[in-house]
Amino acid sequence: MELVIAPADELAVLAADAVESLLRAKPDAVLGLATGSSPLAVYGELARRHAESGLSFASATGFMLDEYVGIAADHPERYRNVIEREIASPVGWPSRQVHGPDGSAADLPAACAAYEKAIVDAGGVDLQLLGIGTDGHIAFNEPGSSLASRTRIKTLTSQTRQDNARFFGGDVEQVPRHCLTQGLGTIMAARHLVLLATGRGKAEAVHQLVEGPVSALWPATVMQLHPHATVLVDEGAASRLQLADYYRETYASKPSWQGL
Ligand code: F6R
Repeated sequence: MELVIAPADELAVLAADAVESLLRAKPDAVLGLATGSSPLAVYGELARRHAESGLSFASATGFMLDEYVGIAADHPERYRNVIEREIASPVGWPSRQVHGPDGSAADLPAACAAYEKAIVDAGGVDLQLLGIGTDGHIAFNEPGSSLASRTRIKTLTSQTRQDNARFFGGDVEQVPRHCLTQGLGTIMAARHLVLLATGRGKAEAVHQLVEGPVSALWPATVMQLHPHATVLVDEGAASRLQLADYYRETYASKPSWQGL
């Protein structure tokens, strides 16, 4: 696992660099897309590069991490709509190439199985962008999630619903209780994981993710078992890391050819 501690704007550039190098080398790459606030600066940077230097998503495929269940199709916070607004539309990515779990399906287990198959049929995810919840979730794999889980329905914790109330006018009652989410096993099958976390509110979750024991209590800790995981954090999110100085030293002396 590589840990980079840098100001938030630099983290977004680093993540965008990783996406850009992948797309330049493999224009039909498969990208895993997170929602929430953590990836927004990355999406902004990618949109800028699309507009200014022609970075193309025309042949790429995208798979979202998760979707609310029981949210109106036209709700601005439905993740499908968020992804369309924040990244697909700004980079000219054809909607038919960007997929998400169908939270409005009549048969949710069938929709989850179909989603898993679609990811495999596309060749698997090359680069997965991730955020982390204050309770240590990645995608919506809340504490207690099986480390081998696949796309399925989950119940959001009250902590996550409170954290996400800011997207619903501050009213926690408006935040759906259920979601469909890629499982931890699904996420672990991606070839490169890039997680972004900023702010002191994420400090404990980041400490557990990087330095805690692998445990379903802190689901993101499963990333310690991934052969290529990059964790990008600002000073606030790094503030509880025991080995912060070592991570800083390692990154500062990293060979310039290495990339993320
Ligand atoms: C969203 C997702 C979640 C968020 C996490 C952090 O697709 O998968 O795991 O990444 O809840 O959310 P923010 O970035 O809003 O703090």
